[in-house]
Amino acid sequence: MKTRKTAPAIPRRLRRILCLDDFEIAARHYLPRPIFGYVSGAAESNASLRDNRSAFAEYGFVPRVLVDVSQRNPSVELFGRTYATPFGIAPMGISALAAYRGDLVLARAAADANIPMVMSGSSLIRLEEVAKVGDAAWFQAYLPGEPDRILALLERVERAGFETLVLTVDTAVLANRENNIRSGFSTPLRPCLRLAWDGMIRPRWTLNTFLHTLLKHGMPHFENSYATRGAPILARNVMRDFGARDHLNWRHLELIRQRWKGRLVIKGIMAKEDACIARDSGVDGIIVSNHGGRQLDGTVSPLRVLPTIVNAIAGSIPIMMDGGIRRGSDVLKALGLGAAFVFVGRPFIYAAAVAGQAGVGHAIDILSTEINRNMGLLGISSLADMQEHRLLKLSAEARCRD
Ligand SMILES: Cc1cc2nc3c(=O)[nH]c(=O)nc-3n(C[C@H](O)[C@H](O)[C@H](O)COP(=O)(O)O)c2cc1C
Repeated sequence: MKTRKTAPAIPRRLRRILCLDDFEIAARHYLPRPIFGYVSGAAESNASLRDNRSAFAEYGFVPRVLVDVSQRNPSVELFGRTYATPFGIAPMGISALAAYRGDLVLARAAADANIPMVMSGSSLIRLEEVAKVGDAAWFQAYLPGEPDRILALLERVERAGFETLVLTVDTAVLANRENNIRSGFSTPLRPCLRLAWDGMIRPRWTLNTFLHTLLKHGMPHFENSYATRGAPILARNVMRDFGARDHLNWRHLELIRQRWKGRLVIKGIMAKEDACIARDSGVDGIIVSNHGGRQLDGTVSPLRVLPTIVNAIAGSIPIMMDGGIRRGSDVLKALGLGAAFVFVGRPFIYAAAVAGQAGVGHAIDILSTEINRNMGLLGISSLADMQEHRLLKLSAEARCRD
């Protein structure tokens, strides 16, 4: 007897989530104000955060019709592996405070969907646990300031079995996150009446995420900034060790390249000159990123510098990007401008917060479906066909004249 394979039913709480932005609305109602503020916010006046979105709106599509698109294939090859779709989950710190066992939830959903997930170094679950989920997980590190601490961290990451290391390099000094102060967020969180009130008016998060974590796993600590354990997430007097990073330079990257035998990706590149130095220093890939607008406010959107960087690197290593991607059409625009792959941040944390692994799976499905559908509407069957001539820059001088 033939059995018909049906798609798994979408859990009831996710049926009204039709696009990635819907997760943000749901998360605003689920997360306490300081935590929602930490995830959604950026630096200073949020100028870069806004530009990350508006840059996508400056491109339109030029579809072709009556081409056979019945065999569409949205898979993509990256570092010798075929991924189901051209996006992955960007590294996000403190995921396990927003979502119960956040990093594991993200890693498992990514592994199930055959996409990569980058685990943040500012995370609250030991990297060894996340590595066990499999090779869908990459590890992102912020460089400790001293060579012996850098090497100790690399050794630990290697021992855990990660094959891909992402070094984030856009944090020479701490950003000005006024939004965090306004919403009451800090690391560690400081116990006070206001924080208690913020938790009380979000009882589902308090019970299902925070108290559940405390009871089953104890107080979360920063586990992976260094080779050794860091500060707890909630403490009255403890100071978090951010380390001094403002002296770090390209020689430190060379040290890491000599020591790290796995794949090395550098994240936070915006200038073509830096992209060339990184390539010449032996990195295997570059993520063009302004950290979701969370570092230097006023930095342009990565989409605006992507074509220049792609031209400068001329195909020698993959150029990836992140920042502001919320739709399948955004993914296709980034690929059209030369990205080999893209990453998406905030929507996946919101999805993990409101519905755990099922939520992240649903978010991945939504974005994958949008890509697949838009490929059909655009008249392409393979992502290799997503070339720049399928896009039109919506500025006066680039508009079609006849
Ligand atoms: C809550 C949050 C935490 C983040 N933590 C990190 C981090 O630990 N390491 C890192 O390299 N980038 C971090 N980022 C930046 C993301 O990796 C990514 O560059 C950015 O979120 C992409 O923009 P998007 O959120 O608009 O998709 C963080 C972003 C958010 C929203």
